[in-house]
Amino acid sequence: MNLLIADNYDEMSRMAAEILINEVKANPSIVLGLATGSTPVGMYKQLIQDHRSNGTDYSQVQTVNLDEYIGLEKTDPNSYFRFMQENLFKFINIAEEKRHIPNGTAVDPHAEAERYDHLVQQLGGIDLQVLGIGQNGHIGFNEPGTPFSIRTHIVNLADSTRRANARFFDKFEQVPEHAITMGIANILESRHILLLASGASKADSIKRLMEGDISEIFPASALKLHKNATIIADQQALQLTQIK
Ligand code: PGA
Repeated sequence: MNLLIADNYDEMSRMAAEILINEVKANPSIVLGLATGSTPVGMYKQLIQDHRSNGTDYSQVQTVNLDEYIGLEKTDPNSYFRFMQENLFKFINIAEEKRHIPNGTAVDPHAEAERYDHLVQQLGGIDLQVLGIGQNGHIGFNEPGTPFSIRTHIVNLADSTRRANARFFDKFEQVPEHAITMGIANILESRHILLLASGASKADSIKRLMEGDISEIFPASALKLHKNATIIADQQALQLTQIK
């Protein structure tokens, strides 16, 4: 893994956006794997600003999101479909038919997982996968104990994940119990992985990622098996590691 150190969230976001924009310019029909959550929002803001100022073109880009809650309609304010509209898609020129997110209201979620997995393969796999990291080391919604060999699948969300995400909902009980997520195998097949981490709440997981063993108990450690994984972490996220 290659570590890039940022002073703070804003710098992390700028560094991540620069990498992504350069890859889009080098390969206008790139397949981008996108993530939700608080971490990539600043990077998305940078992409929007760059698109406005410099006209970076996304018309040939395909996007595949990592995951979606099961049971939330696309219009639900907490669906990841809606998140992507509000934080990125409304503002840059990715064609609607080239934006892909698992369907969280499919009648048969397992069949939807299979369809999504085939779709990613039909697109030729992911060129650049953006990731956040959970406090328990999850990537996408792959919770601790998930086999590294697993492809797109249905998960029972860990209680800690539901609690971490409850801040977006009125009540904890409203946080869905299940989600559909790309598996760790899909993530590892990406040509380049970009994991972002900011803030003290990620310090434990970044220490485990940088200094711990490769183990399915800590999903993000799978990135150590990848030959082109870049971590961008800020000082607060790095505060428990030896690296400064
Ligand atoms: P966050 O979530 O970006 O909201 O911290 C990251 C994750 O859970 O993967």
